[in-house]
Amino acid sequence: MALLIKNGEIVTGSSRLVADIWCEGETITRIDKNIPAPAGADVVDAAGKFVFPGFIDPHTHIYLPFMGTFSKDTYATGTQAAVAGGTTTIFDMCCPSRLEEAADGFATWKSQADGNACCDYTFHMGVTRFDQGTEAQLRKIVAEGVQSFKIFLAYKGAFGIDDAELLATLRLARELGVVTAAHCENETLVAELQKKLLSEGKTGPEWHHESRPPRVEAEGVHHLMTFAELTGAPVYIVHLSCREALEEAVRARLRGVDVRVETLIQYLVLDKTCAEMPEFEGAKFVMSPPLRDKSNQPVLWNGLAQGLIDTVGTDHAPFDFETQKPMGLSDFTKIPNGIPALEDRIPLLYTHGVCTGRLDLQTFVNVASTNAAKIFNLFPQKGTIQTGSDADLVVFDPSYRGTLSVKTQTSAVDYNAFEGWEIQGRPAVVTVRGEIAARDGRFIGRTGRGKFLQRPPSQSK
Ligand code: URP
Ligand code: ZN
Ligand code: ZN
Repeated sequence: MALLIKNGEIVTGSSRLVADIWCEGETITRIDKNIPAPAGADVVDAAGKFVFPGFIDPHTHIYLPFMGTFSKDTYATGTQAAVAGGTTTIFDMCCPSRLEEAADGFATWKSQADGNACCDYTFHMGVTRFDQGTEAQLRKIVAEGVQSFKIFLAYKGAFGIDDAELLATLRLARELGVVTAAHCENETLVAELQKKLLSEGKTGPEWHHESRPPRVEAEGVHHLMTFAELTGAPVYIVHLSCREALEEAVRARLRGVDVRVETLIQYLVLDKTCAEMPEFEGAKFVMSPPLRDKSNQPVLWNGLAQGLIDTVGTDHAPFDFETQKPMGLSDFTKIPNGIPALEDRIPLLYTHGVCTGRLDLQTFVNVASTNAAKIFNLFPQKGTIQTGSDADLVVFDPSYRGTLSVKTQTSAVDYNAFEGWEIQGRPAVVTVRGEIAARDGRFIGRTGRGKFLQRPPSQSK
């Protein structure tokens, strides 16, 4: 198996260069001008196009039992959608329930993915309970190559952990050299606000935001920052949505807290008025933390441009509009939370980030690929284009013009939150470890070829 990508402009997080890329087997083996095309090799003409490292989504929920239902994609459909949109590595959240053993959860998520995933994948290991048994199991899971935990300071009574568990998790994470990713919202305030709104007859999706205002998220971040500071554990804030929360993270960073920040494409381009749409249409846009007031968007874009925010993920959590969102028809707290975006993240970030001048090309690559690889110990296997790296490549056509729609998407969910939106540029060819897996927005690869990526812990302290 050999692949030659000719004459593209290769853009990594730190360089730009017009050259050819030669891949043998699954790996990039040469980058040079005028590499001759040997007989039998796949040759892609990338003249006039960019060649980016395969994009990485640091936050997905392909398999997720949640709020009384299951997220809609399978590892086959979810990763086909990812690859069609230029994402070649995903970090899925392994989220066992509080009653389940961590080891059983890990085995369940692996068995869902193995043989079905179409791109490479790894897990953030959800710590939804912490006791002696959990600790022993987590040590084993880390030894098997999972270098990150995931915790929820939200979802009281479901995935949420208490302060003693938070402290124990961060102490273990620090000892093992593991990064802890955290959903930051104050669960007590959320529960109280939800109760109050419902008692006032405020039951529609438009009230979701009022039950989880920015200060509730900022308080969650503040709380995590205190625990991270006192334990010295490295932490990663998932799906940060607003100015108040970012200010807490930046304040902590100035104190020396080892904190990285993720935002989502949804927060960058959608706002809380979406969840106010009539006829329950707003339910399509219910996620947590909620979509915010539009005034937060420039803060998030500036945060990315200035390195205060490290990554852009999707938190892809697809629930059908027709059959699953209506679980909360008369009570917004029961609407399954999530806005699918895995397939559309890269074209949207390019259109609204690069084409508007908010992000330069290298920042685009860093926040959509390289930084996640570095933070979570996949670099330089993933997240860049250099000899020895996996041949995950995106030949990107900046001249493409088109629209997003449920009618043309690959994901199995029954709506598209960006229906009818125009995009500028999209992946023309996507390779997964040296094999062409998508062309012009369609998956054409081999189902089940994705493999589990082992990530070593950082040097433990
Ligand atoms: O609304 C969301 N974010 N759904 C997925 C679960 C989570 O909190 O990440
Ligand atoms: Zn979350
Ligand atoms: Zn999530």
